Amino acid sequence: MPVTKFETPEKYKYLNGFASFHESEAIEGALPIGANSPQKAPFGLYTEKLSGTAFTAPRHENLQSWLYRVLPSAAHSSFEPFTDVTTGNFGAKLNHIPNQLRWDPFDIDKEVDWIRGLKLAAGAGDPTMKSGLGIYIYAAGRDMDANTAMYSSDGEMLIVGQHGVLDIQTELGNILVRPNEIAVLPRGIKYRVTLPAGPVRGYILELYQGNFILPELGPIGSNCLANPRDFQIPQAKFDEDTSTTWSIVNKYNNELFVAKQGHTPFDVVAWHGKHPKDINYSILIAKHSFVHQYSGTAIADFVIFPPRWLVQEDTFRPPWYHRNTMSEFMGLVCGEYDAKAGKGFQAAGASLHNVMTSHGPDAATFEKASNAELKPHKVVDGNMAFMFESCLFLGVTEWGLKTCQKIQPEYNQESWSDLRPHFKRPE
Ligand SMILES: [Fe+2]
Repeated sequence: MPVTKFETPEKYKYLNGFASFHESEAIEGALPIGANSPQKAPFGLYTEKLSGTAFTAPRHENLQSWLYRVLPSAAHSSFEPFTDVTTGNFGAKLNHIPNQLRWDPFDIDKEVDWIRGLKLAAGAGDPTMKSGLGIYIYAAGRDMDANTAMYSSDGEMLIVGQHGVLDIQTELGNILVRPNEIAVLPRGIKYRVTLPAGPVRGYILELYQGNFILPELGPIGSNCLANPRDFQIPQAKFDEDTSTTWSIVNKYNNELFVAKQGHTPFDVVAWHGKHPKDINYSILIAKHSFVHQYSGTAIADFVIFPPRWLVQEDTFRPPWYHRNTMSEFMGLVCGEYDAKAGKGFQAAGASLHNVMTSHGPDAATFEKASNAELKPHKVVDGNMAFMFESCLFLGVTEWGLKTCQKIQPEYNQESWSDLRPHFKRPE
């Protein structure tokens, strides 16, 4: 079946092209010509640079955007601890345990907004060292508070929508994230999340180091699976409000702070650069490679298991039993995952198999796949599993292990205790 673009409402006008240079102006002439920081920017706008890499980063890695806005971001009060959050667990202690873990579908809390509905489930590393990552479950039932925006100093957030619709107003334009879509919010970008279709739920990978990039082309070459044009970027859209008090919430070293300012943060009239990106429509993989001499070894890979044909001959088609040096956090957006015949891995649930934690098909799947007639088989539309894979040990928070009350204590027993030997010594 051909892939079709999701219909996008007129409000969300996108540019296409991952990590490409783009420019966008909501008023014609707002972008200066021939200079990034002219003595006077057009229309009395202020110039502000947002950098996503060190300014000395080589050209092919350099990410930066120039913003032309009504007032600069610096015009705000001092940051104070954001004490309003009673349910957040940012920076929670990570428990490192080698067990296979699996979670029932996570609940939606209809009382909370995006900020209060972010729960750290697992992670590794430390934002202050720009190393590692955090894995969050988000679940919310109401818009973010009026005149409130958020940004993370800690990393770049990849959002995997599972339920509901996120309307994300960013400094650079609006993006819409529906189930089966993903989005990336770059480090430092201010945004506000509202819920036009009611409660939402999904998964987030926050990358404390580097940026998501497209995977190398590999043996299938230039006609690869994830192409730059599959990814969309918002266009400039601005408000002019300089009389309302706004709260700016900053996630900084996994603590929340808030500052006040008397103007909207969404006042960018024009921008240009390579920095902002929204992966709003994609077929496969965004990947961050750790260091290039470790080519292929990632702090975080994002991989999906979409509808596809299975046609292999003389092959055990589900994933084989394995123990990896990589950690695997899996989620299910919808449908079923073909390595688990039981009902334990459900949409909106998750599983985690850490470094050298053995796993593979459950006993029922092994029996079925070992004896299946190997006809072409379609994993039909409506199935979408994904994985956050990391070379790091992923610790699990108290919320993940206990508070969420979704951990399946019998996961190991249910999956693999029924496996029986098939070995027959040759005569
Ligand atoms: Fe695995």
